[in-house]
Amino acid sequence: MSSRGFKIPLSMHWVAVYAFALVSLFGVYLLSFSDIGYFRDDHTPVEGSQNVPVAQPPPAAVPLNPTLNSPNAPSTSTTPAYDSNKGAGDHVETLDPPQPGQVKIVGLVFFGRRDLVRVLDCYLKRNLRINGGLLDEVVFAINTDIKEDLDYLNNELLSFPYYRKFQANEHGYLGQWLAVDERDTIYVKIDDDVVFLEDHTIASVVQPLVDNPSYFAVSANVINNPALSWVHYHLGVFEPYWPEMKKPWSPSPESSWRASELPSYKGPADGPDGFKIDGSTPAPFPGHRWLPVRHKNKDEYEDPTKFPAATLTYDAHGPSLDNWATAAQLHYSFFQHLENNETSLYKFAIWDYHYARISINFIAFRGGDIMDAYPFPHSDDEKFLTVEHSKKLGKHVVVAGDGLAVHYAFRPQRRAHDGHGITDTDILRRYTAYAKELVCPFPKREVKASPLLRTEQKRRRKGPGRGR
Ligand SMILES: *[C@@H]1O[C@H](CO)[C@@H](O)[C@H](O)[C@H]1NC(C)=O
Repeated sequence: MSSRGFKIPLSMHWVAVYAFALVSLFGVYLLSFSDIGYFRDDHTPVEGSQNVPVAQPPPAAVPLNPTLNSPNAPSTSTTPAYDSNKGAGDHVETLDPPQPGQVKIVGLVFFGRRDLVRVLDCYLKRNLRINGGLLDEVVFAINTDIKEDLDYLNNELLSFPYYRKFQANEHGYLGQWLAVDERDTIYVKIDDDVVFLEDHTIASVVQPLVDNPSYFAVSANVINNPALSWVHYHLGVFEPYWPEMKKPWSPSPESSWRASELPSYKGPADGPDGFKIDGSTPAPFPGHRWLPVRHKNKDEYEDPTKFPAATLTYDAHGPSLDNWATAAQLHYSFFQHLENNETSLYKFAIWDYHYARISINFIAFRGGDIMDAYPFPHSDDEKFLTVEHSKKLGKHVVVAGDGLAVHYAFRPQRRAHDGHGITDTDILRRYTAYAKELVCPFPKREVKASPLLRTEQKRRRKGPGRGR
């Protein structure tokens, strides 16, 4: 190189080369804004397995998981090899065996009610692989013939490319299970009234199933799941709340979900006059709130055994399923813990059901295990899968204690007093407000979930106390 500096060659040949390079760079720049995120996502850190704040844009400095940064780890941002646009009711054979290592995970939503699915939709999007989560796609198995709900599915949900529907020929829950048609896929069955998930819930539920062949199914640690509510009661997460019996002068604004914004309960220490804790009292009025007890005399006013949760039993049925008041106390307590970043209070390691019945609101299965169980012998899919079939196989159904999900309500809680039970609270409005504020605007994760791998050197779950 001469002392006069670098000479730019100006022949037409070089002009063409520079122009081409500039155009290419501009193309790469444009792609970095595309929704697919090929470029943007490749350098984002991997999500820690727990305690990542829910839904808020997560902190950038979450430690990387070293096992997942090897060049052999499959990229999670590439388009899946299978056809995600399968049509309604198609039974598509598994054309491509799953790539060695990476587990394909499908969300299976038993679809019915649009006002609930509007909330779940935001969590599902945040859990899609394309957005940094783990779900390759979501299948909505149709369980309704209400036109408005089907219009919402067809016109709003299905316009999203990683969503598809499954229309069973049979009616009821049994037909919906026929959406499971890939042996090597893990299906996460999600009820349409699941109204809250943490970012790592799906990983927490699927990982133990991948690691332990002796598990038949792994449930999330579901809030409002009968027997688990009893567990939660004894973990001490139920807070003192009573219903507001008279319409307030200033109701909570539409966007309010925080328990700290609620006024204090002012009534007697044993609860509002005439209000029974066993759920036999109807809701005071539609849209009513439950108010926190903030009394100086804690012994008298906050004795947990005076509140609806004291009626809970370790049972898939009974008061845990039927009592709308325990469900109300449970949800308002959860809003308080959610606001205070204390969801770890609910967590434990693995809880083994030992062939007892568990409510299947949010539960992961291997596709092959479901396909081998066809045809289900009777219409009680829950009893068949979690009690009879699991016992026959000698494989257990367990709860992953660090995988939280919130289930809005069971039918007896909704139907209590001709609909004047849980649906007369403002709980669903609060979950909707939370999702609108902190989940729906952020479908894409800043911190990508670690891909789940089927390997010989499995990641072992840590011992008891995990997540506390
Ligand atoms: C909970 O976490 C969020 C986000 O990190 C933070 O903004 C908020 O102040 C925390 N709340 C409490 C009560 O610590």
